[in-house]
Amino acid sequence: MSVDFVILAAGNSSRLHSTTPKFLHNIAGKPVIRYIIETAHECNPTNIIVVTREELKNDVNFNDVTVTVQPNPLGTADAVKYALDALTSEYTVILCGDMPLISAEHLECLANTSSDNALIAMTLPLEFQHMPYGRVVLNDGKFNKIVEYKNASETEKIISLANTGVYKIETELLKQYLPLIEKNTESNEYYLTDIFKFITDVEVIQSPDYEAFHGINTMQDLTKAEAFVQNKLRRKFMENGVKLIAPETVYFSYDTVIESGVEIEPNVIIGNNVKIGAGSRIYAFSHMQDCIIAQNVEIGPFARIRGNSRFADGSAIGNFVEVKGSEFGMKTKAKHLTYIGDTTIGEHTNIGAGTITCNYDGVKKHKTTVGDNVFVGSNTTLISPITVNDGAIIGAGSTITEDIPSNALAIARERQTIYHNGAEKVWNKKKR
Ligand code: UD1
Ligand code: CA
Repeated sequence: MSVDFVILAAGNSSRLHSTTPKFLHNIAGKPVIRYIIETAHECNPTNIIVVTREELKNDVNFNDVTVTVQPNPLGTADAVKYALDALTSEYTVILCGDMPLISAEHLECLANTSSDNALIAMTLPLEFQHMPYGRVVLNDGKFNKIVEYKNASETEKIISLANTGVYKIETELLKQYLPLIEKNTESNEYYLTDIFKFITDVEVIQSPDYEAFHGINTMQDLTKAEAFVQNKLRRKFMENGVKLIAPETVYFSYDTVIESGVEIEPNVIIGNNVKIGAGSRIYAFSHMQDCIIAQNVEIGPFARIRGNSRFADGSAIGNFVEVKGSEFGMKTKAKHLTYIGDTTIGEHTNIGAGTITCNYDGVKKHKTTVGDNVFVGSNTTLISPITVNDGAIIGAGSTITEDIPSNALAIARERQTIYHNGAEKVWNKKKR
């Protein structure tokens, strides 16, 4: 049985009050629309067609979908019209692009049902009775009709069976009846749900899993979806042996990879593209993205990592250390108040407190290279491009402007002058 999937994403996101349309907002670092596209792919459809608005066309033009444009948002039935030409399969599954939490099991259940036409209806718990979903009216247990919430009578509004907006329809019937749907006179929209005035032999697949069909319409909806996905990620990591002292305060990304035996303290934020190896420890209030952390590495507290950085086994950065686009070799450490940018550091090197790589001259970024077994004294300024070779020692407070040879000692600071009893004169002036 061949199936095409149609994802509707041309609505105007007006209830979000945001300059970014709802489909492009991230949940755990991934856009809402990608969730549903990736879930649809798990069902191996012939084709996935995303119907969107002209302004969004380029943003959703991923190479694993066909994109078509609905010129004006005249309703869900009007949106589906713009997918018809791309349909080649016997059946069509229609979904909303603002429903990121739906799982492949739900979609497979619908796509694989033996019925030609079917829809998923969710059973709403009492506290969600007020939600403005369309209601599925049954007659002797069989499908009768869908009423939109705003058009529903008081008795229909308390029906707990709600329309998820996920349907399987025979493609021939879809093409035949879609043009016959009339504009709703109250809302001036063409409702896709009205196709079930023509197609009445419909299987209703009831699902108690209402959270999976949670739609993103408002900022609160977005926050709820984020919390749902974060909790799922936290559970996954804890099940795999990652120790989270206060899981509710740690934020992950959809693509975070963490080996077992990692410990993460409270209030840590992990952005996209982060891998953390076994035995590593992330101390409180650290923020990291784009980095690979090997095994037994210590990060933070209050550390910031970004821009494709790498930490080899046993390396460490401490409090108020920022690392951007840099590599730390085995057992190399920078424990306090430091900025390391566009730098490669070898093994067993110690970067003293307050060291700064001056990687930006106001126009261009430059590279710093530090070798193995180097000791960089506290408050050193490394003016890049610069190379500090293996075994070198830099005296504290140095401003380094020239490359340092292997095993050399470099000191680049003003010599200290002592004026004996000079202090006394100053103190006396003050007392007068
Ligand atoms: C729709 C259903 C409702 C169901 C609910 C489930 C209809 C008429 N109603 O209502 O029964 O309970 O979903 O969440 O279908 N869209 C377009 N073009 C348009 C209008 C909408 O692409 O012209 C897209 C939206 O971007 C969205 C989806 O279709 O992804 C659903 O539209 P929305 O306006 O959110 O429908 P609901 O009022 O939620
Ligand atoms: Ca909706």
